Amino acid sequence: MSKTLPIDQMIDSQRGIISREIFVSPEFHKEELEKLFTRAWLFVGHESQISKPGDFFVSRMGQESVILCRDSRGEVHVFLNSCRHRGMKVCRYEQGNTSLFVCPYHSWSYTTDGKLQGVPLYRSLYEGVLNRDEWSLVEVPRLSLYKGTVWAFRWASDDDPASLYFERNDNGIVVASEPFDQHREAWVHVPPGHALIARPGESMEMPPMKVV
Ligand code: FES
Repeated sequence: MSKTLPIDQMIDSQRGIISREIFVSPEFHKEELEKLFTRAWLFVGHESQISKPGDFFVSRMGQESVILCRDSRGEVHVFLNSCRHRGMKVCRYEQGNTSLFVCPYHSWSYTTDGKLQGVPLYRSLYEGVLNRDEWSLVEVPRLSLYKGTVWAFRWASDDDPASLYFERNDNGIVVASEPFDQHREAWVHVPPGHALIARPGESMEMPPMKVV
């Protein structure tokens, strides 16, 4: 299926109508991956999914598989799910608890804080000179926790998701209430049919959106 109309002709904000092609177009999806998923804070999970040391949950950042995990000291990490040896997916499970991630290809193993620990045949293959400290799992450059939600960013950034997405109270957005800190209760308090995200200075009062 190919894109037939420019994006601005697919959205009628006055009448609150959008084209359903927006949701199915491979071209839009490709553009979103390039222009949105690589440049925005992405929600990767919730702390309640990794409540204990060693808990992990495999999530995604765009098309990239990432491991959300809590290390043995309780720190939260998000790693690219890619072995530093030859790029195999290190973690093949969706979630669980572990003390080590062992790559299924040649069994390099990583601790829950991403450090390379085990390298089979270390002495004979690498003559003992491979510096394990240089071959940790790749961690996302920016990580932010907001009321239990976990956000990751591909690049270094001074912004944080709380200031970008939440707590913009000028126009009344309330995204998470305090009980959310206990990892349950209400998510969002945006009136039904209202858009969730507005640019800075824009009103949240938008007509209900319909898909046609
Ligand atoms: S690709 Fe992971 S150990 Fe070789």
